[in-house]
Order: sequence, then C-alpha cells, then structure tokens
Amino acid sequence: MNPALTKIGAQMSNLTGVRAIMKDIIETLQTGAGRQFINLSAGNPLILPEVEQLWRDCTVDLLNSSEYGEVVCRYGSSQGYAPFIEAIVNDFNQRYGLNLTDKNILITPGSQTLYFYAANVFGGYTESGSLKQVVLPLSPDYTGYGGVALSPESLIAYKPTLDINAAAHRFKYRPDFSQLSINENTGCVIFSRPCNPTGNVLTDEEVNKIAALAAPYDIPVFIDSAYAPPYPALNFTKMTPVFGDNIIHCLSLSKAGLPGERIGIAIGDEKVIQVLECFQTNMCIHPSRYGQAIASRAINSGKLANISETVIRSFYQNKFTVLESTLDVVMPKDLPWLLHLGEGAIFAWLWFQNLPITDWELYQLLKQVGVIVVPGSSFFPGLREEWEHKHQCLRISLTGSDEEIAIAMQKLAKVVESVYQGDTVLNS
Ligand SMILES: Cc1ncc(COP(=O)(O)O)c(C=O)c1O
Repeated sequence: MNPALTKIGAQMSNLTGVRAIMKDIIETLQTGAGRQFINLSAGNPLILPEVEQLWRDCTVDLLNSSEYGEVVCRYGSSQGYAPFIEAIVNDFNQRYGLNLTDKNILITPGSQTLYFYAANVFGGYTESGSLKQVVLPLSPDYTGYGGVALSPESLIAYKPTLDINAAAHRFKYRPDFSQLSINENTGCVIFSRPCNPTGNVLTDEEVNKIAALAAPYDIPVFIDSAYAPPYPALNFTKMTPVFGDNIIHCLSLSKAGLPGERIGIAIGDEKVIQVLECFQTNMCIHPSRYGQAIASRAINSGKLANISETVIRSFYQNKFTVLESTLDVVMPKDLPWLLHLGEGAIFAWLWFQNLPITDWELYQLLKQVGVIVVPGSSFFPGLREEWEHKHQCLRISLTGSDEEIAIAMQKLAKVVESVYQGDTVLNS
C-alpha cells in the first residue's frame, strides 16, 4: 500500500537530526558482522545497578500495596497521577522554597511530548495568520527540538558567541545577546540546561536575562532540565534551577533510570499548564500511571535525589574525566581541537577548528577504525544560516567503559591528525 500523505504526514514521517544518523549506525553495527565497534553514539543512559534496584524496590512496594489496581486498572486525570503531582509539589517547595500547588504541575508521557505541545501551542500560525516563532536562544541544542514543530518554519535558533581558551584546548558557548531577538513574534523559548549535546550550563544570569527579554510579551520560557538537579542531577558544575513567572521548568525522569516509563514533568504558571493539559487530553488522554506511582515513592523517600547525586552524577562525571584526560595526552598539541567545558549531561562535544573535511566525513573515517560517535551537524535545529562550525564538531556519549572511552580517544587522535595532514582516504 502506498497511501497519500498530508503535508504534516510527510513531514512527521521523516526522521530528523540524530534519529536519521541512528539508522546509519544501526546498519553499520548490523552489517559489520564480526567487527568490534566502540559505540559512543547513544543518547540512552546506561543501566546502573543501584538505580535499577531503586526502581525494582519501588515496584515491589507498589505491587504489595492496595494502590496497584487504582494505578493500572483505571483511567486517571489528564494532568497526571495525583500522588505523583503531590510528591513533586512537596519536594520542590521544600527544596527551593517555592509555593507551588498541584495546579502548577503537568505530567506528560516523556518530556519530548512536552516540547511538542509547547512548540505547537505557542509556536506556529495564529488565528490571524501571523507566525509565532519557537526561539532556541543558543545553537547547538537538543536535536529533538528539530522535529517538534508542525510548522517547521516557526523554529528559529541563534548562533552563540564562543569563549575560547586555545592554549588549554577548551571552549564554551554563550548566548549572543547582541543577536538574540525575542519580541511580539515569539511564541515561546526553549533551551536545555545542562545542554545536550554540549554539556554547557547557561549561568543564572544568562537564564534570567533570557526570561526578562520574554516577560514583557508574556512569552513562556521552557527550560529543558532533563539533566538538571534535583534528579538526575547530571550537573558537574554548581547550578540551581531558575524559577520565575514566565519560566516553565521541565523535567524528565529518563536520565534518572526511567526512560522506558516515559515521564516528563512541567512546573510553571497555572494558565500555561492548563493549556498544555488540554492539548494532552486531546492527544493521549493521560500518561501511563505505573511509572508515576513508582516515581512518587522514590521522590517521597528522598532516594531518587540521593542516588542522583551520589551515583548517577559521579558515574558520568568520572567518564568525562577519563575522556578529557585521555584527550589531553593523546591529541596533538599543535592542532586546533577544542573540547567544550564539561559542565553536565552525558556527552562530550569536540570542535575541530578549520577541519579540512566535514563532520560527516570524519564520522565515516572513525567508523572505519571501529569508533562510532555522532556528527555534530545534527545538533543545530532551527539554525538556517550557513556556519562552517556546524560541520566541525562531534558529539561523544559518555556511555562506554573507561577503557573503551580511552581507546576510542586514542583512535580519534590518530584519525584527526591524519585528517589535518591531508592524508586520509575514505573507503566508499
Ligand atoms: C535535552 C533533552 N531533552 C529532552 C529529551 C527527551 O527526553 P524524554 O522524552 O525521554 O523525557 C532528551 C533525551 O535525550 C534530551 O537529551
């Protein structure tokens, strides 16, 4: 059958960003029979035994409680499972001195869904036909934002400024406030903090400045906190969540060990939450309640925040240290390679200034030596202008063993050195 697709049908059946590359990676792994690859491409967190045990324990507790039937055998409210909402309200009020009520919370099936709602509730065409933009204030950012807007022309990202420490081979992106435009044509603002793919953490000052630009127009600012404290607490630099009248603080429990359960949480203004909730009712009635029921146990006991700080954070921070210290030893000092400061998340981001080939070609060369990473150009959704930097970066997941990460960096150093010397051959 070859049914005709609508414009939206055609658009949504195209894989965007990293998903398109994942197809190539899966094919490589399947057809490379017998070859050993070090696969540092995944956005999938590793299963940490202590974290898995926490979720097992919470599941046993749920199974043994009278609540079980209510959780899985009945429909519930579109807003989310009440005991879970209450757990979030209590935890955030206590931790951050807030005055949240249940009206400030929406639970979604994963946080990706939340950005889909946001991008289409606040971005796209208004009744009068004008286009409201979804602004990504600092590009590169999460590749998943690339597929969420049903009017893709609404997505607009801004080039950053770069803080470069060439001698140390380190750099950091900063929002370019001289270019960033948030005005009456803006529908909403979205950014990740800590950032996937770069590990950047925008400072409190930068976040407050973005929120202040949006406030006069009543524009909601969605801060994607999929890697932020209190869970999964994948920040390696000190950071506290920023709250404010027009800030929607968005969490995900995926990196806290529950990606399979699909739990996203929006915390913010009552009116915004209400609109998103209605969208959710129309789309899927409500998210699954089993994950919410076990998560409320892990939050109420304080174990989720504790395990995030003591197990999850240190696990990935150590991986970053292995990667960083290996690169410092094996990468030629005279080449212009720059590692983004590792301030959080589960990735390292490398920039090769004046790279003689594209990031896609470099990705192919690395595959030839058994190392799989992700070409950086997938992480600039909404950035329409050409910028050579887009084709000079790689994202490396911190999801291998220490040994695999070290070996992969040694191989990468050799490949990169030969690329700059101009003597590499790409097998077709
Ligand atoms: C920055 C960021 N935001 C959102 C998501 C989506 O997460 P989920 O839908 O599993 O909550 C991811 C997943 O990797 C991510 O890295």
